[in-house]
Amino acid sequence: MRKSDYGIIFPMDEKSIESWLRDGFSAAFPESDFSHVRALPATDAKFGDFQCNDALAAAKTLRQPPRKIAEAVYAKLKESQPPFVEKLELAGPGFLNITVSADWLAAQLRAISESAHLNIPQTGIGKKVVIDYSSPNAAKQMHIGHIRSTVIGNAIDRIYRALGYDVIADNHLGDWGTQFGILIKGYRECLTQDERDNLTVANLEKCYVLSAGRAKTDEAWKNACREELVRLQQGDAEDVTLWKRFIEISIAEFDRMYAKLGVKFDTYRGESYYNDLMPGVVEQLKKAGLAEPSEGALIVRFDAENLPVAIVQKSDGGFNYTTSDIACVESRVKDYAPERIIYVTDDRQQLHFRQFFIICAKLGYTTKLVHVPFGLMSYGGKAISTREGNLIKLDDLLAEAVRRSLDIVRDRGGDERLAEQIGFGAVKYADLSHDPATAIDFDWDKALALEGNSGPYLQYAYARVCSLMDKAADCGAQPSASNFQLSTPVEKQLALQLLQFGPTVLRAAENYKPSVLADYLFQTAQLYSSFYQRSPILKSEPAVRDARLALCALFGKVLAKGLSLLGIETPTRI
Ligand code: ARG
Repeated sequence: MRKSDYGIIFPMDEKSIESWLRDGFSAAFPESDFSHVRALPATDAKFGDFQCNDALAAAKTLRQPPRKIAEAVYAKLKESQPPFVEKLELAGPGFLNITVSADWLAAQLRAISESAHLNIPQTGIGKKVVIDYSSPNAAKQMHIGHIRSTVIGNAIDRIYRALGYDVIADNHLGDWGTQFGILIKGYRECLTQDERDNLTVANLEKCYVLSAGRAKTDEAWKNACREELVRLQQGDAEDVTLWKRFIEISIAEFDRMYAKLGVKFDTYRGESYYNDLMPGVVEQLKKAGLAEPSEGALIVRFDAENLPVAIVQKSDGGFNYTTSDIACVESRVKDYAPERIIYVTDDRQQLHFRQFFIICAKLGYTTKLVHVPFGLMSYGGKAISTREGNLIKLDDLLAEAVRRSLDIVRDRGGDERLAEQIGFGAVKYADLSHDPATAIDFDWDKALALEGNSGPYLQYAYARVCSLMDKAADCGAQPSASNFQLSTPVEKQLALQLLQFGPTVLRAAENYKPSVLADYLFQTAQLYSSFYQRSPILKSEPAVRDARLALCALFGKVLAKGLSLLGIETPTRI
C-alpha cells in the first residue's frame, strides 16, 4: 500500500488518480510545478466520479486559454490512462472528468475498512500542537456563553489527535487580575462562616457581586479591595492561600462540566502562570524597539498594520492581556516547541490576537499562531445577557438537555445514560454543525429533532446500522469486507462518499472548522439512507446481501468515528 498526498490509500500496483493527473500535467508542461493538482469529488454524478479543475487554475501562469491547456493534458493522460480509470472526459472550459471502475472503488473500500485510522491521513506524526480553549474565568460559574469555546476547541483537539498530532490541550484560565482583590474582601466580609467553610463557586460569585457593588459606592471598601490585591500580588501568605483555594474550587467545578462533556485538558496553566515572565517580556519589547512610553504607560504601535495601539504596561506598572499572552507564547515555545498554537475564543477578541501575533512575529517567533474566532450564540432568538435574564448556567443547560432527551427516549425504553448521550450530543452538534465564524441561535426543537441536520438524527442513523447488523447476525449473514460490490449507482455514490472521509477530516483540521466534518457526516447519512431505502439487504441473495452489509458496516464505522471526533457519543441502541 502507499499513500497519495491527500491520504487515500491505493493498492500498490495502481497509480493514484492524483499522481496520474500530476504526471499528465507535467508531461504537457514540463517547465511548471503541478504538485498541487487535485482530483476533487465530482459535483454531480453526471460529470463522473472525480473532477480536476487545475487546467483553469493554470491558465494565468501558463498564459494560455484553459481549454487548450486541458486538451494538451488530456492527450498525455490518455497515453498513460490506468486500467481503473474507465472514462476520461474533457468538458466545458477545461474540466477533466474522471470515472473510475467499480472494482477499483471496491478495493479502496477494502483498504479503508482494514486501515486502523479509517484512512485518516497521519499528517501530524512527529508534530506538536498546543490548543488553548474553553479558558473560563475563575470564581465564576460557567454559563451558556462558554459552550462554544469548549465544544469547538475540543472537536479541533480530537481532530488533530486523529491526524496523529501530539496535542497539548491547555486551559488558559482567567485566574489573575483585579477581581481577586474584590473577591478576597468579599469572601472575608460578605459570606457567613458556614459559606466560607463550604465554599462553592456559586458563593464566590455571590460575594464578588456583593463586594463589587459595595466598592462602587463605598470609597473605603474600594480601597480595601485594592489593598487586598496588592497584598496578593506581593505574595502575602494568607491571601495567596485564599486565592489558591478559589482557583482549586473553580477548577473542580469546571471539571464537573468537562466530565459531562467528555472534555479533558492536559494542563491548566492560567494567566497567573506567566506572571514572572512579564517583566522580561516588557524588557524584550523595549530592547527590540517595539514598545515606547506614552502617558506614563508603555505601548506598542501598529502603524504599518493600521491597528490601534496595544498597552503592554499600565502607568501603575501592571501588565496587560497582551503582555501575558506574549509571555505565554514564550513559555509554550520553550516547553513544547509546538509547530502551531491554536486559540479558540469569541470573535470580540480578534484585535487582541492580531496584535499579539504581530508582536510575536516581530520578536522572531516562528511558531504558527492561529486564532479561531467564533460568533456569538443567542438562545431562542435572544442575545445571551444578564439583562435578558437568560444567562443560563452551563450546568442548567446540560440538565435541561437530559430532561428533554429523557422525554424522547423513555418511550423507547431508554434510560438516563442514553438521555445524556443524546442530550449532550444534541447540544454539541447544534454548535458544531455551523461554521465557527457565524453567529448561531440555539433552539431546543432544532437541536433535538430526530429528523434533519441534528446530533440525534446522526446518532439514530448509527443505532439503526447496529440493529441491522444484529438482525443480519441472527440470520447468519455477515458483512464481508473482502467483498465490496458496487453494482448500483447509489452504492457507487455512497462508496465515493466514504472514500472522502480521510480527506474531509484533514480539511476540517486545516480550516479549523469541525463544521466541515459535521456537514460531511450529515451528507453521508443522507446518502446512506437513500441507499438503504432503495436496496434490499437482508432479503437479497447471500452474495449481494453480504456485500451490501459490508457497505453498511463501513458507513457505521465512518459515522461513529466522525461523531467521536466531534465529541459525540454513539449509543448502539436508541
Ligand atoms: N479567559 C479568556 C476569556 O474568558 C480567554 C483566554 C483565551 N486564551 C488566551 N491565551 N488568551 O475570554
